[in-house]
Amino acid sequence: MDNPALDLKRYIRGIPDFPKPGILFYDISTLLRDADAWQIATARIARAVAAWQPDILAGIESRGFLMAAPLATRLGLGLVMLRKPGKLPGETVTLNYDLEYGSDSLQIQADAIKPGQRVVVVDDLLATGGTLAASISLLRKVGAEVVGASMVIELSFLGGRSRLDVPVHTLLTYDS
Ligand code: PRP
Ligand code: MG
Repeated sequence: MDNPALDLKRYIRGIPDFPKPGILFYDISTLLRDADAWQIATARIARAVAAWQPDILAGIESRGFLMAAPLATRLGLGLVMLRKPGKLPGETVTLNYDLEYGSDSLQIQADAIKPGQRVVVVDDLLATGGTLAASISLLRKVGAEVVGASMVIELSFLGGRSRLDVPVHTLLTYDS
């Protein structure tokens, strides 16, 4: 049962200098390991995602899977995996994308999405938005209509939201 007054930021801890000096890492581990807080978090996110009336969810490896599975179960939906290269069997479609330093890739199974299916993509964290922008492009390559994106945490000072051309819901926002 949700308590609307409950501030879920109490369950997120900031760990300084991880993974590099000068970075404050917002850790969801302490939210995940609290049964009641995690229930409430997934229920709140599920309400927002349901409003977009998706046909299916897409989770981004790896922490996005922690979100996608309970949300799909709550909403009575299936889910597809966006994975790091070389992990998915069968025919796959790949999207390479640039990071601040270097590049990265995501893959999806070519037949994962039926043409025109309404997809909501989910992840744990919106930082620069690079991962999510690439995920949206990849889903479109295989015929998805991406109707929204949902994350637990948004680092609004990094401006990731402005790189995205779909509606975005985030549960907890940090401005520094
Ligand atoms: C982290 C996080 C998001 C992404 C956000 O994933 O889980 O997926 O970075 O960053 P961006 O908005 O700047 O693209 P990471 O690649 O560290 O891997 P993990 O999920 O496997 O831990
Ligand atoms: Mg990730």
